[in-house]
Amino acid sequence: MPSFKPLWLLQIAVAKFRCVWPSTPSCRSGPSASFTKLALVSLSSTPRDQDDDAFSREMDMFDIFEKHSPCPDIVQSFLRVPDGDFLAYLSGGTLEQRLQRDEVPLTFIERWAMELSNAGAWLELLGYAHCDIRPPNTLLDGDDHLKLTDFDSMTKIGERYDGAAPPWARILGPESGEENGTFGYCGAMTEQSAIGSILYYATRGHEPYEEEDLREDPGPKVVALLRKMEFPVLGEGHLDQIIGNCWRGNSSSLKELAREASVLPGAFELPCATSLDKQYCAETRAKCQRLVRDGLLAN
Ligand SMILES: *[C@@H]1O[C@H](CO)[C@@H](O)[C@H](O)[C@H]1NC(C)=O
Ligand SMILES: *[C@@H]1O[C@H](CO)[C@@H](O)[C@H](O)[C@H]1NC(C)=O
Repeated sequence: MPSFKPLWLLQIAVAKFRCVWPSTPSCRSGPSASFTKLALVSLSSTPRDQDDDAFSREMDMFDIFEKHSPCPDIVQSFLRVPDGDFLAYLSGGTLEQRLQRDEVPLTFIERWAMELSNAGAWLELLGYAHCDIRPPNTLLDGDDHLKLTDFDSMTKIGERYDGAAPPWARILGPESGEENGTFGYCGAMTEQSAIGSILYYATRGHEPYEEEDLREDPGPKVVALLRKMEFPVLGEGHLDQIIGNCWRGNSSSLKELAREASVLPGAFELPCATSLDKQYCAETRAKCQRLVRDGLLAN
């Protein structure tokens, strides 16, 4: 299992500083953030923390995941205690970090298309939409397999979608009838739209519209363009077709999207992702339990 080396020393050192795994936004918000994620460990919120609800929502989701056989495209949690969540360490960092490191072959991005839609399809099977598919929540392991993480916005399919910043969510236009002006309902449509923008970002190295001259405050303009379904120009390739279809919400389910992505060359020519094996998970859980007993989470 080369991509999931247990780096205990590093984790413990990081834990002492209460620093955060760099992909977690709260890391950037400084030492006051109490919701912290470590190399292999995701620490916790204190009861005073406003992120407490989000943290407990995420813990609940992992409890649900654990009742099913694991999805290889979703970050796994080894152990959850009231103020800590021990997650698998992904050495490839976030999608953004990966894109900055060196050039990514198209076949890798094709595999990411399949992995990301497969992750979404697995959540769909459980009756949920992720609702926060953005580059910081798409991590890569040491073998460049993409894994979806951050489950505190998960919502049951069919419930109102609270939305997200553009281009990861789209305010619907007149084509949606009564939903005109809203983010619509959580489900294949909203998830696909985010997946389309992620794949665009991965292939271009920048967000949709980011290179266009939209002047000082691009936010409202991007919202308006998305709403009118005026998407950036795409090429003729199969992956670009998938991006266009995602933006238009053409797949009726993420399962269908995953099936479509599975015929991209990178999706079947390159090695598949696997879940961590049961024994490794059990051993890691025991180590995490020992760390908790030894006071890792004590303030
Ligand atoms: C959609 O909403 C916009 C602004 O909120 C409005 O101008 C437009 O007439 C609406 N279109 C339809 C078809 O409801
Ligand atoms: C996707 O949907 C758009 C508009 O709904 C349609 O014009 C286009 O032909 C569809 N593409 C595919 C491949 O189904």
